Amino acid sequence: MKLAERVSRIKPSATLTINSKAKALKQSGVHVVNFGVGEPDFDTPSHIQEAAVESMRNGQTRYTAVGGIDELKDAVCRDIENGYGLTYKRENVLISCGGKHALYNLFQAVLDPGDEVIIPSPYWVSYPDMVELAGAVPVAVPCSEQNAFKLQPEQLEKAITSRTRLFIINSPSNPTGTHYTASDLKGLAEVLARHPGVLIASDDIYCRILFGGREWTNLAMVDERMIDRCFIINGVSKTYCMTGWRIGYLIGNEEVIRAATKIQGQSTSNPTSISQYASLAALNGDRRLVDQMVRTFEERSRYVLARIGELHGVTCPTPAGAFYVFPNFSAYFGRKVGGASIANSLDLADYLMEKAHVAVVPGSPFGEDRCIRISYALSMDDLKEGFDRIGTALAALQ
Ligand SMILES: Cc1ncc(COP(=O)(O)O)c(C=O)c1O
Repeated sequence: MKLAERVSRIKPSATLTINSKAKALKQSGVHVVNFGVGEPDFDTPSHIQEAAVESMRNGQTRYTAVGGIDELKDAVCRDIENGYGLTYKRENVLISCGGKHALYNLFQAVLDPGDEVIIPSPYWVSYPDMVELAGAVPVAVPCSEQNAFKLQPEQLEKAITSRTRLFIINSPSNPTGTHYTASDLKGLAEVLARHPGVLIASDDIYCRILFGGREWTNLAMVDERMIDRCFIINGVSKTYCMTGWRIGYLIGNEEVIRAATKIQGQSTSNPTSISQYASLAALNGDRRLVDQMVRTFEERSRYVLARIGELHGVTCPTPAGAFYVFPNFSAYFGRKVGGASIANSLDLADYLMEKAHVAVVPGSPFGEDRCIRISYALSMDDLKEGFDRIGTALAALQ
């Protein structure tokens, strides 16, 4: 069958592939420790589930407005006002089917073929492919481990060309857990201020999952010159353990929001009505469960970092948030097991899956082949077991 040319330009999501491999192995009866997960290991809080049931009983099961229900848009605006101190109106908000869909709609609305999009690397696996789907050109800018994988202002300046249309920033980051401080962001904002044609996609999906009393902030918050060209992407998936409900949002300039809504109107139409009402309960409800989850992730991050510290030759910046670490395992590249040699992150991930039944995501699809991504959205027992197994498997390499 002849497929459209755009299909050949994109790859399947590496994280989804690893998870299905791990699931298949599990189904064959093997106890797999899955460090590949990209979602909290907690159930959606019960008051949110109840709100969904209630909405169905109330007959809220029909099409809604394409861009989402007004009550949810207002709740998003309140949340942004309370959490970010930024004032937006309903007209600045589009509710979509997950943060991923919000990003997709934004890219479709503002990118033309040949436009360049600056993506600090390591990056979330989906950015380059979604940019490609919009016909634009992803420009990955490698960030060093010594800088905790954070893009430096001079790197941004150097990467901007006359074709640059968009700059993507994700803090705290998937896959590194790194976080840009207000001072880091001010440095980047100074560069962006010199290039008014460059828009910003601020992927804030992990903004509530931050450790050690760190203050979260984004480019629009640190420099008001950025507000009109900064697009905030957020959603309920990670903060409220609602990955399956598929609600995310895009916030920013009204004209772009109208354009993105038009695109959504000719693709998915509204996000699920029931999920929208559940998200309303999430945003309006008690946040103590979120705080508790963040404390749990923080404890686990400390444990994980300590265990990584025990692995000879492996280095890793301290994560500030989200639920991932991105350690550098390149000290093991070139080592052998049986007749085979571990040449890169994919070989190492395959080896750990086959020999140790531990699923990790190789670093290459995140733009950094020396690392692997380890999620700690799993129980302490599994974390312990997983690191024991990794330790034994690495020791067997010669
Ligand atoms: C950095 C980042 N952005 C956006 C998303 C999209 O989240 P969702 O579409 O589930 O809301 C994810 C999910 O893994 C992510 O890690």
